[in-house]
Amino acid sequence: MTKTYAVIGDPIDHSLSPAIHNAAFGFLGIDCTYIAYRIPKGELAYGIEALKKIQISGFNVTIPHKVDMMKFLDEIDENCKTIGATNTVVNNNGSLKGYNTDMDGFLDPVKKRNIDCKDSDVLLVGAGGAARAIVVGFAKEKVRKITIANRTKERADELIKFANSLGVQSDYSDLSNAGNIAGKYKFIVNATSVGLKGNACPISTRSITKDSIVYDIVYMPVETELIEQSKKQGATIIYGWEMLLGQAMRSFGIWTGREAPYQAMKLTLLGRF
Ligand SMILES: NC(=O)c1ccc[n+]([C@@H]2O[C@H](COP(=O)([O-])OP(=O)(O)OC[C@H]3O[C@@H](n4cnc5c(N)ncnc54)[C@H](OP(=O)(O)O)[C@@H]3O)[C@@H](O)[C@H]2O)c1
Repeated sequence: MTKTYAVIGDPIDHSLSPAIHNAAFGFLGIDCTYIAYRIPKGELAYGIEALKKIQISGFNVTIPHKVDMMKFLDEIDENCKTIGATNTVVNNNGSLKGYNTDMDGFLDPVKKRNIDCKDSDVLLVGAGGAARAIVVGFAKEKVRKITIANRTKERADELIKFANSLGVQSDYSDLSNAGNIAGKYKFIVNATSVGLKGNACPISTRSITKDSIVYDIVYMPVETELIEQSKKQGATIIYGWEMLLGQAMRSFGIWTGREAPYQAMKLTLLGRF
């Protein structure tokens, strides 16, 4: 019987996940299909019931359900528990197990470049769900300090406490000052949605140098304003699509027990931009 997978969220019509996963299933000749399913905020319980009824084999979870979905899980993987949000669910005959592949997906391109995170200082711009997974990832890699710059200070303060609870030093920077201090950090990560489908830049890049590693998790457009400007300053760039691909490959592995076909998924993803 064909197995069906899905991505749930709202909006969902521009999701790249169906293309990436269907390409992987096709490449490996696995009899599975992957669909996008829009579930508006407040309708998650009903949506989950519908997915169980059609015996969905597993699904990805995206904005705005990553945290709310935790309430519907029967079993929770360790990383997922620490992060407090899920992006990957397995359905075992109606029993749902949640995982979070954003953290490892985020770290994948860092490791591919053989960049050592240990004792590094990180400037993390943003304090939403993705930023939380990134804090857990950097904590695992034993960075020295994470400075969090966010529009809403209260959210940054919460994330600072969370980083401290994981044993990482953390402090706050005003968003408007983050560009002035960015040059002091090895990693500058944009985990806000600023830059998405536009030419806005979350921080000024004036102090970024060739020693900076600039990682923008926004993947649409590929060359965000932050990336374009940081490139001109000579920084090492890590693209948002690399994280997207990393998290998708890990979800694929969890669902199928097979190694995800990197090239097929990458070519499909880049072809969509
Ligand atoms: N590459 C990948 O695989 C990947 C994975 C996950 C997420 N993402 C992307 O990462 C971004 C954040 O996702 P999320 O799940 O963390 O979302 P989220 O929980 O809604 O957090 C959004 C973040 O963006 C900030 N923000 C939004 N609009 C802003 C503005 N106009 N000026 C300054 N800050 C603003 C928010 O600040 P406040 O706290 O002040 O509201 C918050 O820090 C999205 O663009 C998403 O597509 C990419």
